[in-house]
Amino acid sequence: MELLEAHRLAINTADEAGALLRQGINERKVISRKSTAVDLVTEHDQAAEALIVQRLKSAYPEHRLVTEESAEQPGSSAPEGAYTWYIDPLDGTNNFAHGFPIFAVSIALYKAGQPLLGVVYDPMRDESFSAIRGQGATLRTKDGRGPIQVSQEPVLVDSLLATGFPYDRHQSGNDNIAQLSAFLKRARGIRRPGAAALDMAYVAAGRLDGYWEFKLQSWDLAAGACLVLEAGGQVTDMDGMPWQIAPLVSVIASNGQIHEAMRSVLMSVNGQPSD
Ligand code: IPD
Ligand code: CA
Ligand code: CA
Repeated sequence: MELLEAHRLAINTADEAGALLRQGINERKVISRKSTAVDLVTEHDQAAEALIVQRLKSAYPEHRLVTEESAEQPGSSAPEGAYTWYIDPLDGTNNFAHGFPIFAVSIALYKAGQPLLGVVYDPMRDESFSAIRGQGATLRTKDGRGPIQVSQEPVLVDSLLATGFPYDRHQSGNDNIAQLSAFLKRARGIRRPGAAALDMAYVAAGRLDGYWEFKLQSWDLAAGACLVLEAGGQVTDMDGMPWQIAPLVSVIASNGQIHEAMRSVLMSVNGQPSD
C-alpha cells in the first residue's frame, strides 16, 4: 500500500464528489428523513457516495469501506484489522438541503484503528484539508498549498469554539444544551457551523481553538481526527481518553492547550449524561 498514492486518490475523489455537491446546491433537492425528523438525506448524498465508493473500490477492492448512506459495503469480508475507509459523502446535509453553503466531503483511511490519512474538502470555498500520518497536515486553497497547525491560544476565555447537536435532541435529554450554556459563559465565542468534519478541520487549521460534540458517527470524525492530530492538536473522548474510532462517539478536539479547561467545563455540567 503506497500511502502517498492513496492520499492523492482521496484528495482527487473528494474534489470530484465536492464538484457534484457544488453543482447540486442550486438544484431542486429531493429530501428524505432517516433516524429522526432532523436527520436528512438527499439524492446528492447518495450520488456523492456512489462516486466515492466506485473510485475507492476500483483502486482498492480488498479494502473495507464504512460509509454513511450504505453503512458497511456488501461483499466486504475483510478482517477487522484490514485497511478501512470511512466516508461521509456530504457532511452538513441540513445546511446543504437549505442551500446554506457550509458542508464538506470527508474521507479517511485507517488500519488497526489508527488513522493513516484524512481529507476534508469544502467545495464552496474550494479548500482541501488533508493529512498523512506522521507527515503533518496541509491546506490547499485557490492560492496554493501549505502546512497547517492548531492555534497557540492558551486560555478558554480568549477561545473560539464550535459544537453541534445530536439528531435525537427532540427526544433525548442528552442534547448538549446545558454544555452550550456553560461554554457561552466561559469562552470568547461559540459557533454551530453544521458540519462536524469541517469543525475538526478548522481546529486543525487554527481557525477554531476547540470543538466538542456528543453522539457522532465514525465517518463524521475519522478524517477530522487525523487532521487535528497531525496539526499538533489533541482529540479525546469526554473522559480524556485518546481518540479511538468507533460507531458512536463523543469528542473533544482542541489545540491541546485548552483541552483540560474544556473537559472540566463539560464535567462541571450537572444533571446531564456526558455521552
Ligand atoms: C452531521 C453534521 C452536524 C453534526 C451532526 C452530524 P451529516 O452530519 O456533522 O454538524 O452536528 O451530529 O451528524 O448528517 O450532515 O452528515
Ligand atoms: Ca456527517
Ligand atoms: Ca453525511
